[in-house]
Amino acid sequence: MSDHAQSAAGNSAPQEPREPAAPPRKPPPKPIARLGGTFLSGASGRLLPASVPFRWFGAAIVFHALAWVALAAGAGQWSQWHGGLGWPLAALHLVTLGTLVATAIGASLQLLPVATRQPVHWPHLIGLMWWLFVPGMLILAFGMGLAHPRWLEAGAGLVIAVLLAWGTLLGLNLRGARGMPGVVLHGWGTAGSLLLLALSAAALVALWNGHAVLARDTLAALHLALGVFGVMGLLALGLSTILLPMFALGPVPADRLQQRAGAAALLALGLAVLAAFWPDGSAWGTALRLGAVAVAALALAWHVRMMRATLAAGMRKELGRAGRLTRIGWALAALALALALAKLLLEAVGHEVEALGPLFVVAAVGGWLLSFLFGMLQRIVPFLAAMHAARGRKRPPTPSALTLESALAVHFYGHLSALALLALAIVTRSGVWLLAASLAGLIGALAFGLFFAVLLRRLRRAGGDAVATA
Ligand code: HEM
Repeated sequence: MSDHAQSAAGNSAPQEPREPAAPPRKPPPKPIARLGGTFLSGASGRLLPASVPFRWFGAAIVFHALAWVALAAGAGQWSQWHGGLGWPLAALHLVTLGTLVATAIGASLQLLPVATRQPVHWPHLIGLMWWLFVPGMLILAFGMGLAHPRWLEAGAGLVIAVLLAWGTLLGLNLRGARGMPGVVLHGWGTAGSLLLLALSAAALVALWNGHAVLARDTLAALHLALGVFGVMGLLALGLSTILLPMFALGPVPADRLQQRAGAAALLALGLAVLAAFWPDGSAWGTALRLGAVAVAALALAWHVRMMRATLAAGMRKELGRAGRLTRIGWALAALALALALAKLLLEAVGHEVEALGPLFVVAAVGGWLLSFLFGMLQRIVPFLAAMHAARGRKRPPTPSALTLESALAVHFYGHLSALALLALAIVTRSGVWLLAASLAGLIGALAFGLFFAVLLRRLRRAGGDAVATA
């Protein structure tokens, strides 16, 4: 018997005959699983002007292509490179900051107000931030690539200012959020990590300019944990609970499950941050890092289980390449944790395998975050474009009509082969394999750029048609 039927039967039960005149009690509302995308109803009033998020996505796509060019520029020094300034570091930051953070700024500042039902704060500031970020990012990348600490300082100043403005906007969105406690928990984790990341970045830049605030190893470990797992990792986990139900037309995971996975991820991050204050191989450092890896594995397992349930129950079962990239991202996040575990265990018995550190970074940044990001971006961009095109129009273009599938297919294979070749280049320390990885990555990046350019052209055409017929 359904809840409804049960309460109806209860109301007419003979044990309560003395109150026949009382109006029948309303049956308690049946709990309804929130469907992804329901928050979009009435969202068009909370859309930023299309040029604002698209400007951030466009910059991310260009910086992604530049990252592969910067990596190729480092092929000559590759066999002697052991961290620090140089083209590989510039390539890493063109990906982490230029691609991941730029997309995260555009996506989070558009999606959070829509999902948490509040107006967009200071849309002009979001546009202005872009004008500081793009030159700042270029100066920073050249400062890193050419090992020019003064340029590093100038670029970092601009980019850190943008990161702090983004953190403030995120904080305003989260403070005014209505509902979505799981997303809000992840969001506060991102905002807090962003502040600490900015501090660690400033301290690293100061170090390269001759002012030591903390030991380099401590700062680098803090910076890696806060940037990769704190800012980008928590944001990717939190936004998944908005995006995947929305695209799969599936139920939003229960708040309790989202909060459980988010709390575990925050605990893992806290342990990794604490561990940064103990050197590699020390008893406390190893224990804390092992704890961080174990709790992160639990957080990932809970997250993946909850999101797979959403996908399985969704009305749209097949998310195509976006779904495959998401699943590959999860698998490579697990691989990153396995590599971290292997590194810790080997260090504990006195062995150091130098390749494990860079492989861990490639699995986490390129494998997990970048795969997830491109999976979501190839859905978000046509979706947002179609929403904008629908304003005041009877027959707007559908997201699939705006999508150039063949370009996305080239990107998919380019991305995966670049990651595999990059792993090979790390293990063999061969500049030739690094060039091959850069070429495969660049082909994928240009293909994604083509997808974006064609989408903008189709959108403009659709707008043009509508204007012509108006
Ligand atoms: C204004 C922003 C940033 C600046 C100025 C900056 C600067 C730096 C510098 C100078 C290093 C070299 C550390 C060394 O070996 O001495 C570094 C390393 C690194 N950064 Fe950043 N960074 C920024 C943002 C980010 C972000 C957002 C991420 C990730 C999402 C990130 C991830 C990394 C990683 C993974 C390393 C390698 C750490 C290691 O060698 O263990 N950075 N960063």
